[in-house]
Amino acid sequence: MPSTFATPLSPNAQRLNRMAHIIAPSLLSADFADLKSAVALVDQSPAPWLHLDVMDGVFVPNISFGFPVIKAIRTHTKKVFDVHLMIVDPDKYITAFRDAGADNLTVHYEACPHLHRSIQAIKGAGMKAGVAINPHTSVALLEDVLADLDLVCIMSVNPGFGGQSFIERTYGKITELKALRERTGSKALIEIDGGVGEQNLERLVSTGADVLVAGNSVFGTADPSAAISKLSSL
Ligand code: DX5
Ligand code: ZN
Repeated sequence: MPSTFATPLSPNAQRLNRMAHIIAPSLLSADFADLKSAVALVDQSPAPWLHLDVMDGVFVPNISFGFPVIKAIRTHTKKVFDVHLMIVDPDKYITAFRDAGADNLTVHYEACPHLHRSIQAIKGAGMKAGVAINPHTSVALLEDVLADLDLVCIMSVNPGFGGQSFIERTYGKITELKALRERTGSKALIEIDGGVGEQNLERLVSTGADVLVAGNSVFGTADPSAAISKLSSL
């Protein structure tokens, strides 16, 4: 994993002589009536990131939460806020998300006609810049911006909902992105979002994933703390 984001190695990563992966539990699958407890649970877990899915009902067919919620939970943890914008015209809101507490800000390739400008604006606002690509979008389309990115989020489901089935083509996209990353000298982390769990995490990491978003496989279980520990140790 490129070194812009440092994280301790799990025992398994040490044994397999590979870099640690980052688990980013997604708040989308938590109990929205008790977000404080969900944030506290992640805060006390080994997961270094908290993934926050912002949906506008236009770019995706669902609406989740926005600035007030992010701002409210910001005071309860110092974990990295990995904000995934599934909204049209994200440029309008870049500084507002920074002010709400975002550390990483990821915009969708499909929502940004001037992607290079959006990336520069995110970095100029002091955040790490990410780009997410939908399942139908080829990683090759990122070639001209990859060296500027801190993170690429490969959507392994169609964005909008938690708890969907993982799309198998994702493995091939990770391999392609890894090669492109090497060729362009990029240090971007490879994040996988959607349908990630115990059943596919090891193969994703060994293929080249650095960051694994986990919604349903954490908050959909009887013991989310244990689920995060398990996913972190694989
Ligand atoms: C989907 C979101 C995901 C979602 C993943 O549009 O971007 O972050 O929370 O949920 P799971 O892990 O349940 O597929
Ligand atoms: Zn997401």
